[in-house]
Amino acid sequence: MADDAKAVWAAAIPSRQGELRDAHGRVKRKLRLSLTDRCNLRCLYCMPEHPEWLPKAQVLRREELLRLARLFVTEMGITHLRLTGGEPLLRRDVVEIVAELDALRSLGLRRIAMTSNGALLDRFAVPLAAAGLDDLNVSLDARTPEIFHTLTRGDIEPVLRGIDAARAAGLPVKINCVAIRGHNDAELLPLAEWARTENLPLRFIEFMPLDGRGAWSPARVITEAEILAQLRQRFSIEPLPRSNEPATYYRLDGHYRLGVISTVSKPFCSSCDRVRLTATGELYACLFSPTAADLRGPLRAGADDAALAALIRRQIWFKEAGYIEHKGYVERPLTMHAMGG
Ligand code: 5AD
Ligand code: SF4
Repeated sequence: MADDAKAVWAAAIPSRQGELRDAHGRVKRKLRLSLTDRCNLRCLYCMPEHPEWLPKAQVLRREELLRLARLFVTEMGITHLRLTGGEPLLRRDVVEIVAELDALRSLGLRRIAMTSNGALLDRFAVPLAAAGLDDLNVSLDARTPEIFHTLTRGDIEPVLRGIDAARAAGLPVKINCVAIRGHNDAELLPLAEWARTENLPLRFIEFMPLDGRGAWSPARVITEAEILAQLRQRFSIEPLPRSNEPATYYRLDGHYRLGVISTVSKPFCSSCDRVRLTATGELYACLFSPTAADLRGPLRAGADDAALAALIRRQIWFKEAGYIEHKGYVERPLTMHAMGG
């Protein structure tokens, strides 16, 4: 739709307070907030080989981030926040951010979660838990140190220490593993066995076309069906009823719960309840959206809450029904480190 036509429609967007809804009837409850585009790892599926970091001045300051978060919670009915990056722990004021978000609970916020690569978690686990973080997803794409290094250019040891530290601090940890043919095929079973022994929830994620190096191709995707076939070599598997979550869950050997997020082979767009704000304040309705709404510009130009709310509602209202199902892939220059995983 052309922009002027959108503007006409925007006036008619039903703006029931306390709800953020798109034209397909999906209500948004979850907001992913990227705190920085910077990262201390170089995951093959995310980062370009030589990333260029955004100038600091473009990144939302803490007070800007909090103003937007508050607006999403109080005006839009967002109940779940997930802090992402890049690597969110590279943001110096990450603990203060969590503590200040924690104050939004009395206004309707229910959960503050984080997705981290875990490498710095060792030193942040206790302060994060004290500041009010509820839980953490840590990316771990291999258990074998050499393979982990090939995939991320980093060491696995600090990540494992970070996971231990988080659990010791009382933070529930879930592990995410992106499955990529030709890279970690042989790691999937060892990871599942390790996670089961450690009693850590694990989710395998199908490789999505969002990487920074053009490494993605359909042939590189290890599908849910293939992941399950591998797991069947070692475990008995029973599917669990589907919830609103992006992962499909299975019970292994009668007791261990494992998830698969099959964005590519079984897209879940029709039940999507999330939106994303980049570190620079661009609002994306979807990981695969080709366009975003700039909130930083209006924010810095002095827009009031009503004007910002109208911008947000308009961007989300026009969210496509589904990108993968209906359009095929959008391979675009913005990679995960800039978007927030
Ligand atoms: N495909 C699938 N998942 C990805 N992530 C990042 N890039 C991709 C991709 N191309 C996910 C990883 C990581 C989180 C930050 O985003 O699971 O844990
Ligand atoms: Fe960094 Fe996470 Fe991207 Fe890996 S996936 S490069 S850890 S932001």
